[in-house]
Formats: sequence, C-alpha cells, structure tokens
Amino acid sequence: MTQSLDTSHLWMPFTANRQFKARPRMLVAASGMYYTSDDGRQILDGTSGLWCVNAGHGHPKITAAIQQQAAQMDYAPLFQIGHPLAFEAASALAEIAPAGLNRVFFCNDGSEGVDTALKIALAYHRIRGDAGRTRLIGRERGYHGVGFGGIAVGGIAGNRKQFGPGLAADHLRHPLNIEKNAYSRGLPLHGAEMADELEQRLLALHDPSTVAAVIVEPLQGSTGVILPPQGYLEKIRAICDKHGILLIFDEVITGFGRLGTAFGADYFSVQPDMIVCAKALTNAAVPMGAVIVKQEIHDCFMQMAPADSIELFHGYTYSGHPLAAAAAIATLKVYKEEQLFQRAAELTPYFEEAAHSLRGLPHVKDIRNLGLVAGIELESIPGKPGARAYELFTKAFWDKDLLTRVTGDIVALSPPLIINKAQIDVMFGSIADILKAMK
Ligand SMILES: Cc1ncc(COP(=O)(O)O)c(C=O)c1O
Repeated sequence: MTQSLDTSHLWMPFTANRQFKARPRMLVAASGMYYTSDDGRQILDGTSGLWCVNAGHGHPKITAAIQQQAAQMDYAPLFQIGHPLAFEAASALAEIAPAGLNRVFFCNDGSEGVDTALKIALAYHRIRGDAGRTRLIGRERGYHGVGFGGIAVGGIAGNRKQFGPGLAADHLRHPLNIEKNAYSRGLPLHGAEMADELEQRLLALHDPSTVAAVIVEPLQGSTGVILPPQGYLEKIRAICDKHGILLIFDEVITGFGRLGTAFGADYFSVQPDMIVCAKALTNAAVPMGAVIVKQEIHDCFMQMAPADSIELFHGYTYSGHPLAAAAAIATLKVYKEEQLFQRAAELTPYFEEAAHSLRGLPHVKDIRNLGLVAGIELESIPGKPGARAYELFTKAFWDKDLLTRVTGDIVALSPPLIINKAQIDVMFGSIADILKAMK
C-alpha cells in the first residue's frame, strides 16, 4: 500500500518530513491495545496514540454513540443556540471534576484549551477591575500546545524560536534533577523548594500584582516525564493564593485516569482554579478540548457583565460539536462502567516494577514513573542528541511491533488503561531487548 501512496502533499506536524517519507510508518486500523500497520502487523500501542486513547482503540460503545449522532444531527452551533448533548457532556465532565470546578467551556483540542484558559484568566481579572494583571507564568520544558498563548507559557525552545517574541510570559525552572532523584519511584523526594522561586524570583521581579495566572502540567509529559517533587504543587498553590494569582492545571495528559484518578488534581489533592483537558475526553475518537472552571470565576462573569450582554467574547465554530459531545458522554460512561481509572491505579505497582527492571541496561540514565506513565532517559550519543532514542523508536516499530514515543533521548510510555500484565511485560521486554543489542 505504502509504495503506491503519494506522500508529497501532506506537510506532517512535528515530523521530520523528509526522513519519514523515505520510509513511512503507516497505521491502517486499530482495535483495543493494537494498531494494524499497512504491512499487516499488529503493533502494541505503548503510547495510547498520543497519550489519548485511554479506553483502548475502537471501543464499540464510543463508536456507536458517534455513528448514531452523525445520523441524527451532524452539526449545530453553540453561538446563541444550543443542542442538549453539549449541556449533557458539560454536566458529565463537571460530575467527575474536583469539587468546585463545575463550569465547562468547550473547544477542540489542548492548544485551544490552553489559550481559552489563559484568556479567561486575563478577562477575569479585568472584569473585576484588576486589569493590571496581564503577565502569565509557565515553566521551562512545559508543553501547552501550539497556540500563541501556549507557546508563550510553554518552555520548549524549539517550539518558540521560529515564531518571534509572542505574549509576555515568564517561566519557572523545571524540577527535573537526575543527580538527586535518579530512579525515583513515583514522586521524587527532592526539589519542593524549587516552587519557592515563584515567589522569590518571578513575583519579586515582576510584582505579584501584574501576574494573572500560573500554568503548569501536574506532570510534564511531552518533554520527557518530569515529575513534581513531593510537596511542590502544594507550594505553588499556596503562593498563588497568597498573591491572588489564578492557578491553571494543564491536564491534557494527566486527565482521565492516567494517574489512577480522574484528574491529576485529585491525585495530588491540589485544587487549581481551572483545568484544561482534551485528548482522552473523547478517547480521541473525535477532537475535543475543555476548560473546567471554578464556579466563582464563571459566576463573576455572569454577575459583572452588563445584563443581556455576551459575558465572554470567545468561542469556536465547533465548541461542543454534537459528534464530540456524543463521544465525550459515551467515553466518560465507559471509564465509569469499566472502572478504568481504578484499573490504572491497581496496575501502577506492576507497571512501575516493569519499568524499573530496565535499570542497569546499556545507555539507561534514569527511569521515572507515575500512574501508567514511564519515562526512560538514555545517555545521548555525543554530538547527536535524540539519535539514540530515535533509533530505539524505529527498532521498536519495525522489529518489535511496538509503538513508543520519544522526545530528545527520553522514551515515554503511556499505554491505554486497558493494558494487561502480559502486555506490560511485552512492552518493557521489547525495549530491554533493543537496549541490550544497541551499540
Ligand atoms: C500538556 C499538554 N497541553 C496541551 C497539549 C496540546 O494539545 P493538542 O495537541 O490537542 O492541541 C498537549 C499535547 O500533547 C499536552 O500534552
């Protein structure tokens, strides 16, 4: 199939296009834990697609809900008109969100979710007469999607440098400290004091009264599984509270059971003012993102805006799209019926043990894990950053029928929550074989 396919017209996202097109890796079907490649192999999905297919591929109840909705009503807007499924989806999401976060704004993905949350934060301060709060704070190595807001608060140099200065944002340092925390299981012990620099460095520099919001991923996924040290997020929350700054958790990866709880906020028992989610909200079957907002913030807009006026000048043609709403409702039901968040929590010790069994193998520098997420950091080949992990990724795909995800020289694993122990063994066993054979 691949030989006859014209690959020239598609400009692929976040891909070395020329390298990919020289030997395309093509997937043509998916079911449960496996993709089917175009050469007919069953590929074990070690990454839930892109951290998003938490209920496994092609879940029949989610598929049926989408099919049924497509036949009943393909599209309806949410601007000054409504359709019941969008409201039902919002209620279903509010039901599993941390207490107090119960107002939902729909968008289409994580990037739009981040931009939406940042705009709500700016508008919230403004509507309360605190318009001087315009500064946003993110974190180095944070990934918040690719909108202009997201790349401003994001801390990935490569995602910023092609696009100019962007919005005013500053950044906390990331808390990864391999020297002190190598091979930590679960949350690292050392480094909670890194949260203090929010107050001591950034707020001291900018003046807290100019800061609108701090945004962090509870667990930094995309840049290689960077975990918050014990007590770190609690400190960030306390500093934000002290200075009237909103705290946004970007839970695009940690939402929907990845850590064994509905949200990372539940896992860490830290309540943000807003949660951004996307990906597994619909099990990735239809694009959808959402910002879950504290009721007080939402109510402030409702109370302060002039009567009969639009309270927030923001929205997308596809906000609450009927197919996405149907998929979200069905997905949240599946998570509940199949107790998948609990399943992830129960599998975590086994997954952790399997991940750490790679310790001591050639080139392994650190292993980090939380919930059903593992990061395996490899020693870089001098002068060729990323080459070692990329080699592992391609060998896994071609020789071991395993889909992994790599960033720099870090291999990240985040399988669907339906994975079983035998499949966990296959996943880490395959990686062990590849590492042992690597020069
Ligand atoms: C934490 C986080 N935020 C935002 C995004 C962007 O989401 P999307 O690619 O759906 O725009 C991602 C994507 O991986 C993410 O991991």
